[in-house]
Amino acid sequence: MPVERLQKILSNAGVASRRSAEAMIVAGRVAVNGKTVDTLGARADPDRDEITLDGTPVLRERYRYVALNKPAGVLSTTRDDRGRPTVVSLVEATGATLHPVGRLDLESEGLIVLTNDGTLTELLTHPRHEVRKEYLVAIDQPLGKRGRERLVRGVRHEGERLKADAVQVVSPSGSPEQPDPRWLLVALHGGRKREIRRMLSVVGRRVVTLRRIRIGPLALGMLASGESRDLSPEEVEALYEAAKRAATRPRGSMSPAPDMKREHPHPIAIDGPAASGKSTLARALVERFGYVLLDTGLMYRAVALAALRGEVPASDAATCAAIAREGGLALAVADRETRILLAGEDVTDLLRSPEVEASVSAYAAVAEVRRELVAQQRLFAAQRPCVLVGRDIGSVVLPKAPVKFYLHASEAVRARRRGEQAAEWGERQSASEASRDISGRDVTDSTRAASPLVVPEGAIEIDSGELDADAMIARAIAVIEEQTT
Ligand code: CDP
Repeated sequence: MPVERLQKILSNAGVASRRSAEAMIVAGRVAVNGKTVDTLGARADPDRDEITLDGTPVLRERYRYVALNKPAGVLSTTRDDRGRPTVVSLVEATGATLHPVGRLDLESEGLIVLTNDGTLTELLTHPRHEVRKEYLVAIDQPLGKRGRERLVRGVRHEGERLKADAVQVVSPSGSPEQPDPRWLLVALHGGRKREIRRMLSVVGRRVVTLRRIRIGPLALGMLASGESRDLSPEEVEALYEAAKRAATRPRGSMSPAPDMKREHPHPIAIDGPAASGKSTLARALVERFGYVLLDTGLMYRAVALAALRGEVPASDAATCAAIAREGGLALAVADRETRILLAGEDVTDLLRSPEVEASVSAYAAVAEVRRELVAQQRLFAAQRPCVLVGRDIGSVVLPKAPVKFYLHASEAVRARRRGEQAAEWGERQSASEASRDISGRDVTDSTRAASPLVVPEGAIEIDSGELDADAMIARAIAVIEEQTT
């Protein structure tokens, strides 16, 4: 491609109109090969030059970004002289020469990103930009509270200070009833060589399994061992943002991240029938307490969407369960809410379509589908302070949740709300259609054999038809603050 004016390259890349691109250049936001260009008239070669806006490359199509679930025994390198398998050899080649971003030890497994985008690699691996990473770690003997606290305070090993941001006991199966002190969720920013293995050796424990399950905003999700998937543009953007945010964090602020401090009780369970106000309440609570929201209904909706696309009826339970297990369903947190990905495609905005609305309850009644999704929901809840919304959260998913709400409202109130929401989501729906959808789903949800909708034991019931939204939220916040330690 010929050399072109910078503003033309920016506008061709869809970044902005030429006029606004000029303003961005003059404002000093554009760089070519790492050098800021703030005068008009500069030219560049879009094929060769690295052009960035606010530090992020604008010509993304050149790059490929892949998330891989690295199996143990595979090297985190591009090539191996001895011909052993490497992370790169596990990813389907498309012409791009990929390299791993950072590394995972030979024996470690889990999430690793591969790309040919050098800017992102540098951002994510530069010591100043370390984003928070989370690891699921199995150790040979239980580690008590004091041992875990030592890791968070920091230990010395061979002249280096090693330190976790947070260490929690979790349950490998995601079951909240049986957290197992031999399974830890370890969060850290640093990436010193074999840091987790070494810090655990200081407290006398040996690591049996070490699996990275999160890099900043990117979760391992449902990728099977050895499997990879291309990241969506939103996920790439989120990685850039996270690395840049990490860079602006002052050094030494490695104390536990605020979202893992246990000041307020969590997780919080919210259940209730369709349009009973669950999302309104949940959004207010995540804002207030800094938690993350998982709307589990979206996960059932995503299974319904994938099944509809594959023409799989709900009566084919085995295939529906396979969709839930292996269909590439993954969760990505953005702005405190959870987006739903299907094989890398962000489908969140497609999940309120009338087709999904009409069929979701049938798929949600399949016990095998529920088993899969419940396991994922528990794992999600074990990893961060969160609010889970659904039909069976307080009763089945998180029966031990310290705070549970159950929302009621009459069917007429809920049908009116749903009609209003449908308009917001761009769907046209009459009040009678909304009422039919809602009552149809209510019946299926409350009468199904698998985890029917019930008021969970210990739940605080709120009639959202009687209270306006602010009053409902204030009431819930008061309940949570009462329990805050
Ligand atoms: O937003 P709305 O309350 O209408 O529905 P949703 O929460 O998106 O849930 C859609 C459907 O998924 C429900 O009607 C249930 O059939 C099912 N679901 C479930 O069975 N269990 C959950 N934890 C969440 C949703």
